[in-house]
Amino acid sequence: MLNDIIYISKEAGSLIRKAFGSKQDIEFKTNVKNLVTKTDKASELLIIDFIKKKYPSHNILAEESGEQNNNSEYLWVIDPLDGTTNFAHGLPVFSVSIGVMKNGEIICGVIYDVMQDILYSSEKGSGSFANGKRILVSSTEHLSHSLLVTGFPYDIADNPEGALEKFSSITKASRGIRRLGSAAIDLCYVAAGVFDGFWEIHLHPWDMCAGILLVEEAGGKVTGFRGEKVDTFTKKILTTNGKIHDELLEFLR
Ligand code: IPD
Ligand code: CA
Ligand code: CA
Repeated sequence: MLNDIIYISKEAGSLIRKAFGSKQDIEFKTNVKNLVTKTDKASELLIIDFIKKKYPSHNILAEESGEQNNNSEYLWVIDPLDGTTNFAHGLPVFSVSIGVMKNGEIICGVIYDVMQDILYSSEKGSGSFANGKRILVSSTEHLSHSLLVTGFPYDIADNPEGALEKFSSITKASRGIRRLGSAAIDLCYVAAGVFDGFWEIHLHPWDMCAGILLVEEAGGKVTGFRGEKVDTFTKKILTTNGKIHDELLEFLR
């Protein structure tokens, strides 16, 4: 199954790469910050067509078209283009993210960083890989030595949950915070030890499903903002290398 997910992630990635840079027809979803393009939809159609041919009995949850429930124990969780704002503005930081769950547990995850041509993959119990090479989380011990990444929800103008104050205080306590605009790529970079931690609120299952497995299989820790266990349907997560987790939790609680 992992090879099939890798195959279709790369196919979707090449569709997106071809469309990148040309003028995009943009539609708004919840507000003017929340965009969708024809390319998001075309990528999703391609992936869903493939699943329907190869795994017709499986359930699907995809960002643009929602849920298709066949009462299967398998669920494909799909973000056909994570980082649509970057894509629409010509910034080459976006990805395809596909996770597969079996009976509620994430068993496979693939995130394809389209423009860097880096394919992150993971299978439960088998580690995480970037273009076939094993990746591990960082070994940074302290928040003060950490490089972090976060994202903001599309309703950030209302500053939900004090997201901006948290950003400010964690900026002061750490080496720095980046904001890349693709939660899936943020999670890959935590898995690969580039960033020491990532947190975000108001995420969706398709933003996180593959990335949660990638971080866990790379030796990282994934919880909610009170340190509690989370799954892909939880709305906010903190993921770190494990070592700086408690220090960051102090700021997020
Ligand atoms: C968004 C990106 C972004 C995050 C947003 C997501 P989309 O996904 O992952 O980094 O900050 O919360 O909604 O809309 O580009 O698929
Ligand atoms: Ca997304
Ligand atoms: Ca998306």
